[in-house]
Amino acid sequence: MLPALAQHAIAAFSHAGDLVLDPMCGIGTTLVEAVHLGRNAVGVEYEPRWAELAAANLALAEAFGAAGRGQVRVGDARQLVSSIPRALHGRVALVLTSPPYGSSVHGRVRVEGGEVVKRDLRYSEDASNLAHVGLPTLIAALQQIFTACATMLRPGGVLVVTARPWRRDGVLIDFPGAVLSAAEDGSLVPVQRLVALLAGLHGDRLVPRASFFQLQQVRKARSAGLPLRVIAHEDVMVLRKAP
Ligand SMILES: C[S@@+](CC[C@H](N)C(=O)[O-])C[C@H]1O[C@@H](n2cnc3c(N)ncnc32)[C@H](O)[C@@H]1O
Repeated sequence: MLPALAQHAIAAFSHAGDLVLDPMCGIGTTLVEAVHLGRNAVGVEYEPRWAELAAANLALAEAFGAAGRGQVRVGDARQLVSSIPRALHGRVALVLTSPPYGSSVHGRVRVEGGEVVKRDLRYSEDASNLAHVGLPTLIAALQQIFTACATMLRPGGVLVVTARPWRRDGVLIDFPGAVLSAAEDGSLVPVQRLVALLAGLHGDRLVPRASFFQLQQVRKARSAGLPLRVIAHEDVMVLRKAP
């Protein structure tokens, strides 16, 4: 998640002293931005490797004078209710998260032995990591996770989920739409659907930060006559727990 996106959502939907939760916190962008903005933060991450980095990032934020306090737990967000101390249930002002999905939009690109290779596009080799499951299973898991998030939120608290559409075999997958449907339940009501530009601004020109593989996919499609465009935004879905 781009730190600017997390900063914006935290400033817009919570206040200093509030508690912010990320149930799939990765290396802790949500947590770090929250503590820098004077919120307290708690994160859950399935992979010990990323949880360790998130804890290190939080320690660094504290060393740089962040006013809030943060903690990370290794766990499965599908069991969120048992991962988060009971005293915090119903106390969270904001859940801000981005689910694992679409290996085409993630990963580190390197040139190795004269070849372009991509690593870390699925967060780990563990088949139980939600990055490895098919779309229907992922959406069912997200439904379970968002229901647990609703239990963690205080009345009137907000859930913000960011997700990008992606392409499989050239076909656009409306992942954000599926995520929004998964998040809607009796107690979480959609209030906004926003677009976060992932492009930089150079004068009046947008400079997309698309990966090598995204650019390559679009170039190939275009030269085959298919008018694809590089995706340069993330959908931001905002839901509120009934007061
Ligand atoms: C898109 S990344 C989150 C990145 C994070 N927002 C950041 O900026 O660092 C999604 C994360 O969900 C984690 N994940 C996958 N399955 C999970 C599960 N069942 N419970 C908790 N975390 C999970 C992945 O390991 C990955 O780190």
